[in-house]
Amino acid sequence: MVGYKFMGKAHSNAYRNLPFFFDLQAEPVLQAIAGRDEQGVKLAAEKMGWASYETDWRRLIERDDIDLIDIVTPNNTHAEIAIAAAEAGKHVLCEKPLAMTVEQAKRMLDAVNRNQVVHMICHNYRFAPAIQFAKKLIQEGRLGKIYHIRATYLQDWIMDPAFPLVWRLSKEVTGSGTHGDIAAHSLDLARFLVGEFSEVVGMMETFIKQRPIAEMSGGLSAKAESGKMGAVEVDDASAFLARFENGAMGVFEATRFAGGNRNGNRLEINGEKGSLRWDMENMNNLQVYFHDDEPGLQGFRTINCTEEYHPYAGAYWPAGHIIGYEHTFINLMVELMNGIDKGYSPQPNFEDGVRNQLVLEAVERSVQTGKWEKLESKM
Ligand SMILES: NC(=O)c1ccc[n+]([C@@H]2O[C@H](COP(=O)([O-])OP(=O)(O)OC[C@H]3O[C@@H](n4cnc5c(N)ncnc54)[C@H](O)[C@@H]3O)[C@@H](O)[C@H]2O)c1
Repeated sequence: MVGYKFMGKAHSNAYRNLPFFFDLQAEPVLQAIAGRDEQGVKLAAEKMGWASYETDWRRLIERDDIDLIDIVTPNNTHAEIAIAAAEAGKHVLCEKPLAMTVEQAKRMLDAVNRNQVVHMICHNYRFAPAIQFAKKLIQEGRLGKIYHIRATYLQDWIMDPAFPLVWRLSKEVTGSGTHGDIAAHSLDLARFLVGEFSEVVGMMETFIKQRPIAEMSGGLSAKAESGKMGAVEVDDASAFLARFENGAMGVFEATRFAGGNRNGNRLEINGEKGSLRWDMENMNNLQVYFHDDEPGLQGFRTINCTEEYHPYAGAYWPAGHIIGYEHTFINLMVELMNGIDKGYSPQPNFEDGVRNQLVLEAVERSVQTGKWEKLESKM
């Protein structure tokens, strides 16, 4: 694993707990992590249970005792590490967004395909049992033809203008702001549940244009003491309208300026026969409405997706004994391990990463042109 902070913790925890909850043919061995700061990476290896560490990720790629490279570093490092890993014949799990640009993402896809390694992108929210169950209901036709998806991803962690300029606000490290960071998750859920995008039109805003330069950061926290200021070059909020190939309409909003919303990853889907709603902050519950329910009893019902009928949920606790954020990573890694065992790349994989990046980039283009932008239908 390359990197060891926020996602490093989430992925390490998932690898450790995976064999405890699931019986798999391939089991992860926490062989080595890489980070640039020897003291930091050594401590992280000890705390998170990795057998060894390296201070340069290239050393991981050279090692014969490593089969899978897991990339949990900032976005501008994904392409170089993933391509080098694939060229060395290692399987790759990469955090989202896959890359900084479509061009980079396509090179990554080409590298994993050419070298026939297993690849996945970590869109973990797909793996909440309630989202998997929503997918099943849609596939079974229980909602009929889909008309609408409205998805919001609302956060508020940088509302304080004194919050430092962390890597997530630096264009050369992150690519885009809220857009690639959290809208990317919403549009992955939309692709998973509704289908492929055909065209988009969007708007973006940067509310706070200067911030103190960060001296230390990890995950969503940071410190700034030097008093030096720097320019914020990425969006604080992004919103867009979308049409899907199947005729559905989409409305998307992602922001880090929705006070009171800590991780408000929510969606509602309306079809000809029914609707469903999901909210990450209450992630075990799926709200479902069916038009053919008895008159007088119609309305959204809340299903606690913790039963054996709900994908992955049966591996954990008895019904009603809820699971959390970390389990979405464990569930994703079940698929990764099955893919490695059987030799295929489970979804979401790098092809999904490229498709995601195509939508992200089309929205950015539309912000420049002020016009609707079409998606490439073929890759
Ligand atoms: N799936 C999700 O829901 C989710 C959530 C958060 C972050 N992410 C993604 O995960 C990735 C990492 O985000 P994070 O929040 O863990 O960041 P973080 O700042 O908490 O950690 C980044 C880690 O990468 C290391 N690093 C940075 N540059 C490096 C380099 N050149 N070589 C080696 N190590 C380097 C840092 O030292 C740190 O250990 C990003 O791509 C982000 O978009 C995904």
